[in-house]
Parts: sequence; structure tokens; C-alpha cells
Amino acid sequence: MIPAILRDPVRALLDMGREAAGEIVRVNLGPFRPYLVTHPEHLQHVLRGNAANYTRDGVFWRPLHRLFGDGIMSDGPEWELSRKVLQPVFTAKHVEALAGRMADAVAEGVDELSGPAEAGREIDVPESMARIVNRTVVRVFFGGKIDMADAERLAPAFDSIGASVVVRYLLPSVPYSVRVPGDRAFLRAVAAIDDVVVPLVERHRGRPDDGDDIFSALCRARGPEGGEVSARWIRDNLVAMLATATETTAGALTWLWPLLAAHPEVAGRLYEEVDRVVGRDRVRPGHLASLPYTGQVVQELLRLYPVGWLFPRMVVEPEVVGGVRLEAGETVVVSPYVTHRMEAFWDRPEAFDPGRFSRRRSEGRHRYAYFPFGGGPHQCIGMHVFAIEARLIVAGLLARFRPVACSPEVATPRMGASLRPRQHVRLTLRPAEAA
Ligand code: HEM
Repeated sequence: MIPAILRDPVRALLDMGREAAGEIVRVNLGPFRPYLVTHPEHLQHVLRGNAANYTRDGVFWRPLHRLFGDGIMSDGPEWELSRKVLQPVFTAKHVEALAGRMADAVAEGVDELSGPAEAGREIDVPESMARIVNRTVVRVFFGGKIDMADAERLAPAFDSIGASVVVRYLLPSVPYSVRVPGDRAFLRAVAAIDDVVVPLVERHRGRPDDGDDIFSALCRARGPEGGEVSARWIRDNLVAMLATATETTAGALTWLWPLLAAHPEVAGRLYEEVDRVVGRDRVRPGHLASLPYTGQVVQELLRLYPVGWLFPRMVVEPEVVGGVRLEAGETVVVSPYVTHRMEAFWDRPEAFDPGRFSRRRSEGRHRYAYFPFGGGPHQCIGMHVFAIEARLIVAGLLARFRPVACSPEVATPRMGASLRPRQHVRLTLRPAEAA
């Protein structure tokens, strides 16, 4: 019989977390037995309080190193330099200054769906979300230096990486000299990504402009001794940024449509807010402050479906946390998906209830009971981008269209590096004025 952890790892991990009720436990994967940490106090310690003792290394990160190399998705000095160079592009102030350009791009992306909406033609949700996100993020944050066709070629490659890396997670002790299922697809995807990214690095390296985008920041960067940074370092950071900037948002927004279909009362309140505030206009950054419920819907979406559902760490020095001795070299698994769905920390955790993020109902909640963007030094650099972009896209789509049918109405997660629905989500829209 196949153990539950192999059959449905996402579900099995959730069940283990619930059973442990906040205690640190070990997950039995045969020879590999990571610790599962779910309690907000322990999470705060691992991700922030003693973050230096919990590094991005070990069996979960090693397979991804073949993709991300030594940039912002690594750890140590290369990560530190990457974070320092990229941070200014992502401050709340800088992102807000770019919100108008993001809104223009969202509006264009939304317009493209008029054809299918007027014809009542079904759309492919992951593809449509990725197209809007690509337009918004790639144009604004990569300074228009990547054309849309190239950006769109990347999406299937990143998708394939997310799915094919899983076998490596499940067979951590198999050396890379031995091929496992998924390896070939993984390496093909890395090659496809490099086909797009490497020529771009060659074109722009050594010719930095004074732009405020990711490309310009990376090409202007200097190493710790003031020397040139390598082409490889720029490539590693570009790949990491392309993967995190587009896949995450598109993935998160995919989960929204089945949720709205299954919760007409939430959908009704959301449509009412968008109708009242935006009407049939194009959504602008100035609307966002008047769309509090839309913001809560997006927060609740990430509680139930945090795309970065699992991010592990390796213990450097042994220490006792919550009464459990964590040994050096062992893996600690933290999962917002699990903590966000535990009754120990949430009231009716399975319910889709955006109102739980109202100011009143958020009072007293532990900072690490809700951590879709992680925390501490590695906290998501793109969280302000997501916060603005996701609300612009949701309000922008609903100002123009109404969903009339979504299949399936209940989507379930499949195991992968990011949390994606197992089912192929499809949606039929119709123009809002006809609704
Ligand atoms: C639904 C949206 C998103 C979610 C749920 C999400 C989640 C996360 C999480 C959990 C981490 C921490 C990983 C760890 O501690 O090992 C992270 C890191 C990161 N995220 Fe996001 N992210 C999202 C959107 C974005 C966007 C839009 C960007 C870029 C524009 C981005 C760029 C990054 C980068 C570069 C890191 C690594 C930061 C570091 O290690 O210093 N993310 N993200």
C-alpha cells in the first residue's frame, strides 16, 4: 500500500500538523525525517529570532539549486548581496510609485478577455492569470527588457520545474549522478529558461542604465570588493525573480475563482464593493483605499492557498525549541498551508471567511499565525507588489466581467514546489453590464 504521505503529501502534512496541535514532530519519510514546525512562536524563532541557525540548504533546497544557483533564492554572502541590490526596487514607496503603470498594464490585460466574455467562451484560468500578471510585472519591474513572447515561454518551463522536482524531494538520498523520474523534464526546463535568460544577460551586462527596474539594478551592482559581478550571478537572480514574480501571483489568483463560485455570499459582497467604488471604469491605484473587502478577500485567499506552501530550512547548530532537540544537518519544514488551517490557531480554519481579516477580528492574532510571505530576513521581497497587483487585477476584472461558471467549483492542491490546483481550472465570464 502506498503510504498517505506519498499518495497526497499536502493532505498528509496537514493531518500531521493538526494531530501534533503545535508541538514539533518528525515526519516519517523513511530515511529522511524532517521536523514539522507549526506553532507561531516556534516559527518566529526559526524564521526570525535565530534565523542564522536555519539556512536554505538540505534536501529540499539542493534540487532547486540547479535552477536558482547562488542569488536571491540562496543563502549566505551571495544572497546578502542580492537582497541588498534588489531591495530598493521593492520598497513600499517605490512599488506605490509604480502602481499607476501597473494599473495601465492590468487594464490592457483585462481588455483582452472581452472577446471570450462577449462570446461566452470558456477561458483557461492559469493561462489567463499568467498573461495578465506577466504583462504587469514583466513590463513594470523588468523595465520592458523582456518581450511578452519570451515571458510567456517561461511559464510552462517554471510549471514543469515545480512538478518535476517532487521526485527529488521524495528520494532525497539518491545522488544526482543517478537519474530519477522527473530529472529529464527538470533539466529540459532549466535549459528552456536559460535559452531566454542568458542572451538577455549578455545583451545588458556591462551596459547598465539608470532605470529603476530589476535588470538595471542587477547590471549596476558591484561585488563586495567593488568589482564586477559575474554574468552567472545576474542570471541566477533574474531566473529567481522571474520565477517568483509571475508564478506566485498567477497561481494565487487561480484559486480565487473556484472559491467565489462555491461562496456566492462572499462573491456578492465583493461585486457590490467593486461596483460601488470602481463601477465600469478602469481601476486606478486611488481606488484601492476604498476597496477594503477586496483586500480581505485576497488575504483570505492566501490563508487558504498560500502558494509558497512549504519552505524548509537546515539546522546549523543543534538547539532545543519547544522542548524538542533539533539536530545539526536535519531539515525543518515550515508550512503556512498547515499552520493557516489548524484549529489551534484559527477559528473554523476551513471556512472561506474574508471578514476574519477585518481590523477588529485581526486583533490579538499572532504575527506568525498568518505568514504567507514568510518572515525574518528572507521575508518575501515582492509582498508589496503582490498586495497592489492582486487587488488591481481582482477589482479590474470584476469591474468589467462577472464569472458565470467555474469548473471545478472545489479545487484541490497537487504536490509541487508551489501550491497549484490538481484540476484544470476553467471559467466563463460575461460582461458585467449584462449581469
Ligand atoms: C502570492 C504571492 C506570493 C507569495 C505567497 C510569496 C511567498 C513567499 C515566501 C513564503 C517567501 C519566503 C521563502 C523563504 O523564507 O524561504 C518568499 C520569498 C521571496 N519572494 Fe515571494 N511570494 C509572492 C509573491 C512574490 C512576488 C510578486 C515577488 C516579486 C516581484 C516575490 C519575490 C520573492 C523573492 C525574491 C523571495 C526571496 C527573498 C529572500 O530570500 O530574500 N514574491 N515569497
